[in-house]
Amino acid sequence: MRVRRTRPSLRELFDAHEGRLVHKVDHYFPIYERHLGRFVGRRPRVLEIGVAQGGSLELWHRWFGRGTVTIGVDVEERSTAFRGRRRHIEIGDQGDVAFLRRVAEEHGPFDIVLDDGSHRAEHQVLLLETLWDDLAADGVLIVEDLHTDYWPSYGGGHLRPGTFIERVKPLLDDVNAHNSREESFRPTRFTETLVGIHVYDSVVVLERGDHRPYTTSMAGRPVFDTVNDLPIDDAIPADHLARIARMNRPTRRLRRALRHPGLVVRAVERRAPGRRRDVTR
Ligand SMILES: C[S@@+](CC[C@H](N)C(=O)[O-])C[C@H]1O[C@@H](n2cnc3c(N)ncnc32)[C@H](O)[C@@H]1O
Repeated sequence: MRVRRTRPSLRELFDAHEGRLVHKVDHYFPIYERHLGRFVGRRPRVLEIGVAQGGSLELWHRWFGRGTVTIGVDVEERSTAFRGRRRHIEIGDQGDVAFLRRVAEEHGPFDIVLDDGSHRAEHQVLLLETLWDDLAADGVLIVEDLHTDYWPSYGGGHLRPGTFIERVKPLLDDVNAHNSREESFRPTRFTETLVGIHVYDSVVVLERGDHRPYTTSMAGRPVFDTVNDLPIDDAIPADHLARIARMNRPTRRLRRALRHPGLVVRAVERRAPGRRRDVTR
């Protein structure tokens, strides 16, 4: 009997990991699974800022599978030891826009950009502004270890201007700007390209996509004689009214039965002899 093997979860791979050292916050695993799981087996291009001992790059290759390409960025020259086939290492400072641009032009577009580097707010904000357009059409940008946004030693603090968390808050408006009826609040570059903002303890996930003004559709039949306080003919688009008319048409079998009631009686007799008495009584 062939046993079907299921893919191990990232957490399972992590727990079984015997390669280079990797250090992760425990509650990040379900977040990665939720937002990055769709890239497993899809040969993603992953840019990770912060290589350290190289363990996370190993783990991404193992989880995402064959064909994955990783680009690790670190200030530490010794990270070059982790270069390999489909594993690029770029040495530089993530606070240097020219360096980030060069990495993006050489290796982008990226399916995933993960910031696990300096954990300095100004670098996280710079990364968003500099690399957002280097994400693939359905790419994901993750900034982690945002607890530092609340730590004075990292220039953080509650509501402190300049933190990444404070940069994310206006994005909540940007993602809704298509709905604005005010001249002073119009769509931004993020309105057109940002389809999801997910905020967790210490982690923000931003999902890129083609974001247009919302559209609506209807299905099914109205129950009342008004819809949204309008008469049905005004509230329901013509194409859906036509669908409802088709739904309300008797079926072919019913139409035939209505035309020839005798056929129904004979069919009942054939299928359940003796039932005729019940039918006619
Ligand atoms: C938390 S570690 C990365 C851990 C690694 N991703 C893992 O999971 O195993 C942070 C790394 O970011 C690097 N780093 C710190 N400041 C940086 C900067 N300004 N630019 C690029 N890398 C930086 C550090 O050298 C360090 O290796």
